[in-house]
Amino acid sequence: MRLAVFNQSGGVGKTSLTRDLGYELATRGRRVLLVDADPQGTLGSFLGLEPPARPRADTFWATVCDGGDAPPVTHPTAFGLTAGLANRFLIGDELALMQQSDPARLLAVVETHLTDYDWVLFDCPPKISEITLQILLAADALLAPVQTEAKSVESFAEAQLEIGKAQRRRKNMRLAPLRVLGVVPTLYNPRLVLHRHHYEELARRVCPSFGYPVFAPIRDYVAVSEAGTRRQPLQRYAPKCPAAADVAALATAILDGASAGQ
Ligand SMILES: Nc1ncnc2c1ncn2[C@@H]1O[C@H](COP(=O)(O)OP(=O)(O)OP(=O)(O)O)[C@@H](O)[C@H]1O
Ligand SMILES: [Mg+2]
Repeated sequence: MRLAVFNQSGGVGKTSLTRDLGYELATRGRRVLLVDADPQGTLGSFLGLEPPARPRADTFWATVCDGGDAPPVTHPTAFGLTAGLANRFLIGDELALMQQSDPARLLAVVETHLTDYDWVLFDCPPKISEITLQILLAADALLAPVQTEAKSVESFAEAQLEIGKAQRRRKNMRLAPLRVLGVVPTLYNPRLVLHRHHYEELARRVCPSFGYPVFAPIRDYVAVSEAGTRRQPLQRYAPKCPAAADVAALATAILDGASAGQ
């Protein structure tokens, strides 16, 4: 399964969720590749690697964007999963990608070189870019983290527009529709009336209007942030944190859905 973790809104928990869901899948015996698609290189850093300091050739995107035949560069991590890195050169790489005539270049690369992985998770950047569009063509499925606060819930309609555009592009290219696995409410504090309200909004009004399932939320715990600073998955840094149980429940729901072929 190739999964785009997508929401064009910034700071909604995409990278943290990619890290922790990827780790969860790896601990359950799946072969997992996590691909960083943000020039800030946050995902690599969250996994204990040093993306900004690395040369361009050490990134996942160099080969993809140059149009070469070599497999994209990946790196083992200390956590039983593999990472594809991005760094600041991604901004220039993206221009090279746009100059190529193949809008599904990334799809071709993953179908040729990344078939050994059970799960490839793409951590999308917080904007619509050529890289994002290519990810939405290369993925089979999409997971959308949405923060349980007003701005994030309202702006999810914009993310839905982009998902719609990607679906039309896929149809024109005779690709199967992207499967929207669902929305993951993030940074959720059940003690806050406003968070409960926005979660209800998502679950009862916004997502049903698009026909998207809603998963149980990932709760807001400072250990999720601290794990980023300590450069390890949440489950390693704070295995007893309730948010780690939320990620485990999400992984179970996704794996159950995948095995049921929903
Ligand atoms: N469940 C959570 N509980 C507490 N803090 C969280 C949680 N999830 C994410 N955070 C924190 O919120 C901030 C944004 O998270 P993250 O970087 O994962 O979001 P993002 O959507 O990838 O951001 P960007 O759009 O900038 O790429 C980070 O400081 C992160 O540590
Ligand atoms: Mg991010």
